[in-house]
Amino acid sequence: MPNYQEGIFTDNANCFNVSEYKLVENDLTKIRKAIHTVLERKAENINVVVSFGKKLWSMLSDFTLGKFNDFSTLEGKNGHQMPSTQADLYFRVLGTDQSSVLDATLQIEDILKDIFEVVLSENGFVYKDNRDLTGFVDGSANPKEEQKYLAALIPANEIGANGSFVFHQKWVHDLDKFNQLPVAVQEKIIGRTKEDSIELEGDDMPENSHVSRTDAKHDGVAMKIWRRSFPYGSALEKGLFFIAYTCDPFRVDIQLERMLGNTEDKVSDRIMEFSTAVSGGYSFAPSVEDLEKALTIH
Ligand code: HEM
Repeated sequence: MPNYQEGIFTDNANCFNVSEYKLVENDLTKIRKAIHTVLERKAENINVVVSFGKKLWSMLSDFTLGKFNDFSTLEGKNGHQMPSTQADLYFRVLGTDQSSVLDATLQIEDILKDIFEVVLSENGFVYKDNRDLTGFVDGSANPKEEQKYLAALIPANEIGANGSFVFHQKWVHDLDKFNQLPVAVQEKIIGRTKEDSIELEGDDMPENSHVSRTDAKHDGVAMKIWRRSFPYGSALEKGLFFIAYTCDPFRVDIQLERMLGNTEDKVSDRIMEFSTAVSGGYSFAPSVEDLEKALTIH
């Protein structure tokens, strides 16, 4: 059994829910018991990733993580904003049928109620062959094989080893606006071809494409993250629920600032003309061992 939360890497799920909770009760025994019960009752064909906001983690755990901060609202040079809706506790439920995912989600909410208030809950699915609702494949440049563990997990010799920093951000798409554009223009906005997801090269790749802004290096190190976003939607509202796991939240910060144009070159990501961030929060998904310790009544 690996010591990281397996749901971080599950790749056969096609139905999802993310629910975000705020604490309404400070009794540590009750908090521990409720989360313990949730994890104990997990159904067989369901995976769950649990992660904690900074405040709750510091209440439950005997170690703190230097790099771990709440997400603060970001203002962009491009006039766009990424709002913080920082919560205390996060559950991502994954499965292969919608009934089980919803049952698990409602069961979690029921066990947590009176101690936590649910503040955001979004269901998602796999759209076609892993496409975002814009029609572009999402996840093509995700790290492969062993590289994904390096991108997502805190290394073995560090505090919080096998844990992962999690970033959730709900985006609402203006699909009418995006779909009006010729495919060639859409491809310049994303930085890949639409049909086959081939990365644009050389002069064909604009510096304000999404790929150019997020394929970032810092001091020569590629800022790789492990993305597990899902599309959600109805006739009323639709978009992408962005989820990233990283060994260092700085990697996400740098990508967000580059998207917002908060860089020397002031270039911002064109994707933000067609999609708006409406939530944002950081959390920590501890290793199995650290999770067990944090939930043990001391
Ligand atoms: C409206 C929201 C978003 C949409 C629709 C979207 C969609 C996409 C698509 C279609 C790709 C190209 C295929 C791929 O490699 O996966 C991509 C790449 C990528 N996105 Fe996003 N994304 C969104 C938000 C974000 C955010 C907020 C971040 C960072 C915090 C991010 C980070 C990345 C990264 C790292 C890549 C790969 C870049 C590379 O190395 O080629 N995306 N995204």
